[in-house]
Parts: sequence; C-alpha cells; structure tokens
Amino acid sequence: MAYYTSNEEHPIDIVNIASLEERVRARMDRGAFGYIREGAEDEWTMRENTRAFNDRTIVPRVLRGISHADLSTSIFGIDLKTPIIEAPSAAHGLAHVKGEVDTAIGTAKAGSLFSMSTYGSTPVEAAAAAAPGAPQFFQLYMSKDDAFNEFLIKKAVAAGVRAIVMTVDSTLGGYREDDVVTKFQFPLPMPNLAAYSESDGVGKGISEIYAAAKQDFVPADVAKVKEMSGLPVIVKGIQSPEDALASIQAGADGVWVSNHGGRQLDGGPASFTVLPSIAAAVDHRVPVIFDSGVRRGEHVFKALASGADLVAIGRPVIWGLNLGGAEGVTSVFEHLAMELSITMQLAGTKTIDEVKRTSLLSR
Ligand SMILES: Cc1cc2nc3c(=O)[nH]c(=O)nc-3n(C[C@H](O)[C@H](O)[C@H](O)COP(=O)(O)O)c2cc1C
Repeated sequence: MAYYTSNEEHPIDIVNIASLEERVRARMDRGAFGYIREGAEDEWTMRENTRAFNDRTIVPRVLRGISHADLSTSIFGIDLKTPIIEAPSAAHGLAHVKGEVDTAIGTAKAGSLFSMSTYGSTPVEAAAAAAPGAPQFFQLYMSKDDAFNEFLIKKAVAAGVRAIVMTVDSTLGGYREDDVVTKFQFPLPMPNLAAYSESDGVGKGISEIYAAAKQDFVPADVAKVKEMSGLPVIVKGIQSPEDALASIQAGADGVWVSNHGGRQLDGGPASFTVLPSIAAAVDHRVPVIFDSGVRRGEHVFKALASGADLVAIGRPVIWGLNLGGAEGVTSVFEHLAMELSITMQLAGTKTIDEVKRTSLLSR
C-alpha cells in the first residue's frame, strides 16, 4: 500500500486554529484526512465539545496591575512552559513522513508535553530519543494479553516516559462514517504493536484494531498498570464523577477528562459540560487533565477555571504536523499560548493558579 504525505518542515502562519482543518483537507489523502477529522455518527457530541465553552463566560477584570501573563505550570514535579499539552493520537505517519518524531520535537520546543500513543507510527523509544530531556507520557491501549501489556510498558519505561496514560473509553470504536465511505484502513505499520505481535495494523480499520485490545476493563486494571510500570497512571476517557472516584480509589494518580474528541459515544455531553462536577469530586486529590474541542485560548482558560490542571489538544497538533512538520507543531502551541496569554491579561489573571481560582459566569 503506497502512501504519500507531507515532508514539509517550516513554521506556519496561523490566523486561528479552527481554520487549519480546511487547509489540510485540500492536501491530504482523503481516507487519512477523514479518519483524523471525523467524529462518531452525527458528530453532535464532536460539535458540542467546542460549542459548550459558550455556556460559561469570563468576566474581564481591570486595575489589577498586570502587564503580562505567566503560563508556566507543572505536573508530577515536571515543569512546563504552558498548560496546553499534546493529546495522544494514533498514526502521525498519516500526516507527515517523520510522524511522532516531529510531533515530539515540535511539542518539546514549545515547552509542552508529548504523549506517545500505543497506535503511533513510531516506536516509543524513537519518539523519546527525538527530544532528549523533554518530558513524555506513554498512552496505553491495554491488550487482552498481560504478557504484551508487560512488554509494552517495560519498553515505555526503558524509553524514559514519566507516566502512563491508560485510555479506557475505546473498548470498541465509535461508528465513524468517513471511514465507511472511504473504506479507510491504516496504510502504515504501528511499530509498538509489531514489536510483540504478528500484526502491525497495516490493512486494518480502527475497529479491527480496537477489537484486538482489551474490552473488559475493571478498576483493578489501574492497579495492575501501576504495578507493571512503577509510574504514575492517569486514567483517560473519564466523563462522570463516579468513574473519576472509582479510578482514584483504584490508585489512579491522575484523571483525564475526555470524550475522545467526540469520536466514541455520539449523543454524550460535551467534555467541558461534565468537567466542573468531575473536578469537584476529585477535589484536588490528583491532577485533572482535560481535552476535547479546545480550539481557542479562551477555551483553555475556561477549562482551567473549571477545574482542569492541564488542557490537551488532539486534531490541531496533527494539522500543524501536516502543514509544517515539527515547526508546524510548535506554531500551533505558540498560537494557542498567544491567545491564552491575551485572555489571561484581559481577565486580570497573571498566573495559571490565578486562572484556576477564577469564577466563570454561567449564562
Ligand atoms: C486521529 C486521532 C487519533 C486518536 N488516537 C488516540 C489514541 O491512540 N489514544 C488515545 O488515548 N486517544 C486518541 N485520540 C483522542 C485524543 O487523545 C483526544 O482525546 C482528542 O483528539 C481530543 O479532542 P480534539 O481533537 O477535539 O482536541 C485520537 C484522536 C484523533 C483525532
């Protein structure tokens, strides 16, 4: 299966993040573009993810002596220049010949944090080696086979990742129609799978790949991954306070509030809608990471003010990678940081801690 994609390496001009999608549509393989862009079924939840930020508003504050904003923050003792991080996503080779190597470099250059997906196009150790010293997490799609889980986790630990992101919302794929129309199958190997199993994912659709992974998750799996890795474990795909509490009781060191960018259950609430109740239940016991639908600095601000400690972006990073390689990825982070910085100053908040203490107005 021959597959051609971008090899460009340059910063990109960005007017706004939402417009990147149409720029990429015009130049990317139709099946690959559809797979990255799409949401499940009617894409109602996907659209709702971004719309819901309008349900809460930021009151401008003045006379607070603020001449600039400081975006720096930290997680698990890791210092970051920005609260905006990369959300783990599969198959960056679809967007750029260098795949996750470039995403890792571009994310590191922005002072942010990269999470390598189990279904990435790059071995976890190669992504880690691409950005020496930069913090990285490994996103685990658990297998039914614990020997494979152990093998993969050990490989990630040896590569130097700082935490395991355990995704639990994908026991099967949501029904995504672009993949049906284009008959999308992964044209490139997934080396983290190929390192252990006979299947490298080539020629398979995402549903077939999920079918080979674990379905019957229970809270005890969190403890199992902690034991196998000896690292902090963040449970990703949480949309209810009850599941956040069950994860913490099972030993989770972090909760990642996400509906997978609206790619799984259509008809569910926006991820932003459920964030405040989850953050209230977590009550600062562990960090809360938030994603799904973030396209503006003000969205980042609102998520932080609603209980998130870090805010992740998925598709925008992949669009930046396609348009400009590592530098394109950096441009995406820098653009959002610029918007966040403006929002912070106009809202009268100097630091990320001050943003977190801000009360939003409900409409
Ligand atoms: C093309 C694509 C592939 C993805 N692959 C994964 C994955 O391998 N593991 C995972 O935990 N989440 C995956 N996600 C979900 C993202 O981590 C994140 O939750 C989502 O993209 C956030 O929404 P946004 O794209 O609106 O920012 C993927 C998302 C996209 C768009």
